[in-house]
Amino acid sequence: MKQLLSNMYVKNKKVIVRCDFNVPIKNGNVIDETKIIKSLETINYLIKENCKIIILSHLGRIKTEEDKALNTLMPVKNSLEKLLNKEIKFAPDILSEETQNLANNLQPGEILLLENTRYLDVPEQKESTLNLDVAKKLASLGEIFVFDAFASAHRAHTSVVGIPKFLPNCMGFLVAKEINMLDKTIKDPEKPFTVIMGGAKVDDKLKIITNLLPKCDHLLVSGGIANSFLSALGLDVGKSLKTSNNDIIADLKQLMLTYKTKFALPLDAVIESTYNEMPMIKAINKIEPDDIIKDIGSKTIKKYSTIINESKTIFINGTVGIYEEKEFRNGTIEIFNALKNSPAEVIIGGGDTISAINALGFTDNFKNISSGGGAALEYIAGTNLPGIAAISEEDNIEVLDL
Ligand code: 3PG
Repeated sequence: MKQLLSNMYVKNKKVIVRCDFNVPIKNGNVIDETKIIKSLETINYLIKENCKIIILSHLGRIKTEEDKALNTLMPVKNSLEKLLNKEIKFAPDILSEETQNLANNLQPGEILLLENTRYLDVPEQKESTLNLDVAKKLASLGEIFVFDAFASAHRAHTSVVGIPKFLPNCMGFLVAKEINMLDKTIKDPEKPFTVIMGGAKVDDKLKIITNLLPKCDHLLVSGGIANSFLSALGLDVGKSLKTSNNDIIADLKQLMLTYKTKFALPLDAVIESTYNEMPMIKAINKIEPDDIIKDIGSKTIKKYSTIINESKTIFINGTVGIYEEKEFRNGTIEIFNALKNSPAEVIIGGGDTISAINALGFTDNFKNISSGGGAALEYIAGTNLPGIAAISEEDNIEVLDL
């Protein structure tokens, strides 16, 4: 059993909390605060315990200097201030002496939010690989480490797995609750167990899909993932998003052969074409070179809804279309309706899926929500998540010397 925040003595201590504030931002504002709201239980508990609180999170992916300004955590600071009704201090330069001073000068109950940890990825990848020197420096800001970023638990990154090597550590309330929920609902799922996966890229999901297939009864795919499977079958998907990696295409073919009866692929699609102003539904074998697939069509909705209705447990990560565009949200709405009406235990996973649920008016229809998309998929596929593995077992706290 992992060490829990509720069992740690944290009163008056300087506590580092790794949150996952990788949230959607538009025009400098957080447009879906669900992940931040889910973190408040841990933060409020630490405020009540008179802790000096140092919060870390990543946001987006930082590959160039230019990516930094687009992914500042300032909008998150503003959201947190509003939600907590409290001033949040902000450290723009993560490893500077000034940040150390800000942390040292915190008063009980005060909060310091550090800038996006992935700023450390440019010029060298010091966050998105495990860098123990950086982890040690970050750890020196506090006395205890609380891991409350379930959505980042599948990343063996410096601020996730490095810091707990140097500090007494535990899981925060968000992580403990989500693991508990996933264990109850999907560890030993009532069958048929269906996984619905949307999303742009198949390349970074291939391992998860491979591990999931033996466990689930049905895998319903859409988006760029489905397009890659369709193109592995030799179908033209036009200008739609798909993998161009031949090794991956070969793996996809093999998976479809091995798990033939488990796969559900789109039968038709709503496409955008450079030649037509209006979106059109086309059969999946009639997609033309200039078409872009942006949603599933009515036949696919029917096929997927039937499987949903016959399932006993369902995990969904991703949407079946570009729901942000009015013309391409029907598939997503219909799949959410089918999930809402299904007798199955439904688990929603991942920030983008949560945002879609909220944006399309389904907030009150689902009770099992995990902030983690990739992390939850890996957890149910049986992977030992590095972020959880890094947390000490109860009564077994051993830390490296600072
Ligand atoms: C998520 O939103 O799934 C997590 O924050 C992980 O983000 P990443 O895929 O960029 O590591």
